[in-house]
Amino acid sequence: MISDAIETTQCQRKDPVDLFHSGHFVKICAPMVRYSKLAFRTLVRKYNCDLCYTPMIIAADFVRSVKARDSEFTTSKGDRPLIVQFAANEAQVLSDAARIVCPFADGIDLNCGCPQRIHDDLKRTVDLCRKAEATGVSWITVHGRNVEERHQPVHYDAIKIIKQNLSIPIVANGDVKTLKDAENIHHMTGTDGVMVARGLLANPAMFAGYEETPLKCIQDWVDIALEHGTPFTCFHHHLMYMMERITSKQEKRVFNVLSSTSAVLDYVNDHYGV
Ligand SMILES: Cc1cc2nc3c(=O)[nH]c(=O)nc-3n(C[C@H](O)[C@H](O)[C@H](O)COP(=O)(O)O)c2cc1C
Repeated sequence: MISDAIETTQCQRKDPVDLFHSGHFVKICAPMVRYSKLAFRTLVRKYNCDLCYTPMIIAADFVRSVKARDSEFTTSKGDRPLIVQFAANEAQVLSDAARIVCPFADGIDLNCGCPQRIHDDLKRTVDLCRKAEATGVSWITVHGRNVEERHQPVHYDAIKIIKQNLSIPIVANGDVKTLKDAENIHHMTGTDGVMVARGLLANPAMFAGYEETPLKCIQDWVDIALEHGTPFTCFHHHLMYMMERITSKQEKRVFNVLSSTSAVLDYVNDHYGV
């Protein structure tokens, strides 16, 4: 909770922009509603994730309500560097929300991606990015799809053009499932970082080079989640994602309907020795 975290986290601020000048592309865990919470961020950081985003938080609720603050934002000493993502349509509200999280975060992100992403007329997207750059934003993440596209291939060529037309760091996002994919997209687009959502849900160890979730990572999730008092649904859903590729259909039929932490613990112990 915020009030407990102040003293432990306040003094550790790092400028996350420095990450973009480290000579390596920055490996980033995307904002994910319900999922990119403290426990999951702790897990991916163990496996070479350089920078984490919180789930999107509605700035107006965050400013208005202590309850919303306590339920939407939790952090801890090692949870850095951290970017807090807000949804806001009023500058003052965003500014007020930013001021509240400022001692606990290394940056603020404004979600401009739902539902507009890149525009069909790429000049308009480049223009928008330039305007954002002119306002002083530190970097921009681009999901390379337009508003109608869901499963179509990501337009990495569009991301490359945006990168070529801006001076600030650009982060590429979309359909990265392995470290190799991330490296390829970095080379293909020339971007400074790669942000991953579903690939990390499926394999939180992917930035460390694992092709699929290692058992050690499942063990780490169980330990971290229990230590953080993660609610059952969140604990269970993460395991479903992580085990998706390594469990058979029959196993899933049993595992996915388990309804208590103890049943899940027994299951992973019996089947995986975790
Ligand atoms: C479960 C889930 C929750 C998401 N929540 C957010 C969010 O809170 N804010 C946001 O900007 N994008 C959110 N997204 C979009 C992702 O950050 C990302 O842009 C998108 O999934 C494409 O990346 P990927 O191909 O690596 O999954 C979410 C995606 C998923 C799968």
